[in-house]
Amino acid sequence: MSATTDDRAWWQRGVVYQIYPRSFADGSGDGIGDLSGVLAHLDHLRWLGVDALWLSPIFPSPMADFGYDVANYTDVDPVFGTLEHFDTLLDAADRRGLRVLLDWVGNHTSDRHPWFMASRGSRDNPYRDWYIWRDEPNNWRRAFDDGPAWTLDARTGQYYLHHFLPQQPDLNWNNPAVRQAMHDVLRFWLDRGVDGFRADVVHLIGKDPDLPDDPDDRVGSRVGWHTDSRTYEWLREIREVLDGYPGDRVMVGEINVPDPVEVSAHTGEDQLHLAFYFALTRAPWDAGAFRSAIAGIEAATLARDVWPGLVLSNHDQSRHRTRYGGEERRARVAATVLLTLRGTPFLYAGEELGLEDATVPADQQVDPGGRDPQRAPIPWTPDPGHGWEGTPWLPWPPEPDRRNAASQRRDTGSIAGLYRRLLHLRRDDATLHAGALELRDAPDGLLAYDRVGASGLRRVLANFTDEPAAVPDDGRWQVLLSTARARDGEAFDGTLPGTTAVVLAPAD
Ligand code: NOJ
Repeated sequence: MSATTDDRAWWQRGVVYQIYPRSFADGSGDGIGDLSGVLAHLDHLRWLGVDALWLSPIFPSPMADFGYDVANYTDVDPVFGTLEHFDTLLDAADRRGLRVLLDWVGNHTSDRHPWFMASRGSRDNPYRDWYIWRDEPNNWRRAFDDGPAWTLDARTGQYYLHHFLPQQPDLNWNNPAVRQAMHDVLRFWLDRGVDGFRADVVHLIGKDPDLPDDPDDRVGSRVGWHTDSRTYEWLREIREVLDGYPGDRVMVGEINVPDPVEVSAHTGEDQLHLAFYFALTRAPWDAGAFRSAIAGIEAATLARDVWPGLVLSNHDQSRHRTRYGGEERRARVAATVLLTLRGTPFLYAGEELGLEDATVPADQQVDPGGRDPQRAPIPWTPDPGHGWEGTPWLPWPPEPDRRNAASQRRDTGSIAGLYRRLLHLRRDDATLHAGALELRDAPDGLLAYDRVGASGLRRVLANFTDEPAAVPDDGRWQVLLSTARARDGEAFDGTLPGTTAVVLAPAD
């Protein structure tokens, strides 16, 4: 793989747009987003210029974790539509040149999945060994509320393991029948024509078979959850399933561990194609913090010659504009950085509108993990219904009369206009979508890096302070894009106003 040429796969060159189906758009009028809603707004994605969409889970589910508790992997939950709706959406996306990724939740099922219902039926049920049952729990804690990761099943007198809610029992990947069944799930959707998957917490599938207690000083840190090297073997089996299909299908892993080196270990030629690096979601609004996050991702991915997935926001994190104190100018700078780094950016629906988290009153809170604010519905129009017929399942994010797709698309100076310009610039520029990255030394408060590749040198400067920054002078530069629109195409005068970013090319 050359670092400077344009021989990249679509999933390296492209940009993926994450849709949280409940919140995106509602075609049925029940206040919950669905597949017809997505279909009706595909042209927004075309307008924006993304290459693929990833749908958070659409499968039948009791919705204890809003779809991340799957009760049937090979159908669509009626709240979202039917398999026919899905096929229609896939066709329509294909006609617009948009790829489609699904969310494959391999670590756990719903407790209402027939496999688990059978498993808990009796100790000698053939499905018993599809899950992880023990007479005594160890000290592992679950996510969300840090309660015990084990629940006693009164009828059969044993405990089952669940990394997340008690309604999300962990599958036993040691059992070859489980692996086979989960491969068949992939095949079901690959046969239907999907371009790939985002693999939910896929690093957790291989538990240490001894299920050792977490060390006393690290109880709740879940160290034992991802220490079994068989995970890598099972990732290779998963990769073989995808490689059996034509057309560059892709598997993006959600490997949510802090060390980028550990993330990279799950990716490569015969494992996951790529994984998310969440370092940017953890970085505060500080040039130095961004710089070290980027340096960590670069080092970890270059060492294994793998390609990073980059993300600022998703359905699990507070939206980045909110994290950065609510200033839209910061969200603009962050977008410029995200879309000019080396790697595949994943946008979270609504970030292109500069959406902030919603304020969700206590009596409207529904998520066990407290993640409702970032899952507020997308406003499509300025009128009070904002393009939704019924009352949406969560309250609106702030300023929906202004921060809606229709208003922002009309205004070329809007943040949506900036995302569009960035996406088009990136798509047309081989250096930006395929080239190498070199971090540069810069004065405090300034983030600077070069991209080097087939279309020449590009320089990105991002001023994280409110004060103008004088940029060390080395040559004549032309502004390809600025977060302050007026400067596009001008010669760069060596000064970057407060909280702005520019993408530059050599002037000669
Ligand atoms: C990660 C998903 O992104 C999150 O929303 C979910 O709650 C957990 N995995 C469990 O599936």
